[in-house]
Amino acid sequence: MTSETPFTVTEPNTLPALELEHVSYAYTKGGKKVLADKSYAFHPGKVYAITGPSGAGKTTLLSLLSGLTTPSEGRVLHDGLDLAKADRYRFRSRDIGVIFQSFNLLPALTVAENIILSMDAAGKSFDKPKKQIAAELLDKVRLQPEYLNERILHLSGGEQQRVAIARALSYGPSIVLADEPTGNLDMATQDDIMAIFRQLAHEEGKCVIIVTHSPEVAAASDEVYQLVKLRRR
Ligand SMILES: Nc1ncnc2c1ncn2[C@@H]1O[C@H](COP(=O)(O)OP(=O)(O)O)[C@@H](O)[C@H]1O
Ligand SMILES: [Mg+2]
Repeated sequence: MTSETPFTVTEPNTLPALELEHVSYAYTKGGKKVLADKSYAFHPGKVYAITGPSGAGKTTLLSLLSGLTTPSEGRVLHDGLDLAKADRYRFRSRDIGVIFQSFNLLPALTVAENIILSMDAAGKSFDKPKKQIAAELLDKVRLQPEYLNERILHLSGGEQQRVAIARALSYGPSIVLADEPTGNLDMATQDDIMAIFRQLAHEEGKCVIIVTHSPEVAAASDEVYQLVKLRRR
């Protein structure tokens, strides 16, 4: 390479972990579109924010990215392969960790039980006892180890959010998706949760995708994709 190299590389020279290729989506065949011709790339090692007003299709986009639904038109690619043709159950239980808006934790079970259920569902083998991995995950999301045996119904919203993140990470996915992860949290907790997401991307090379209303969360992300609400016919 000389100093006269005629181009600059702006995107990391890696395959995206997930990619939308001219994706459109309508809830009923021939119905009005919620998403029209979206082409977005999501690379490992970065935090992405997806923003837009209520009804713009953010949750719909997350279901497409997580393989829960398939596009009406276009393709969703995982490591370059069409997700519609892949084993999507395997993809969802192993390759991607999803943090739902409502956490979806089982309230009567303990923190450890919730995390271990997800590890069992992945059908992977682990190199350490599962409870030890759960304890290490709590440390990562900055919860005291005493919380392991606490029932979910005794935890605050911010604490449940941390457990939901720990659970999504439990089987070592390379992609993390979160729907409004800081929606009901105070500012200090929101900053702390964002620091965890940035660490997962920048230090562990995960691809982190967050749906958010929050300008602070968008500002703390590496890339922002803005959805607009499509006009109704
Ligand atoms: N299951 C469904 N069936 C029909 N329409 C739906 C369904 N889910 C969402 N929609 C519609 O799709 C649009 C986008 O919804 P959604 O993806 O939830 O947006 P956001 O998360 O940005 O608020 C809305 O107009 C919503 O009413
Ligand atoms: Mg939504």
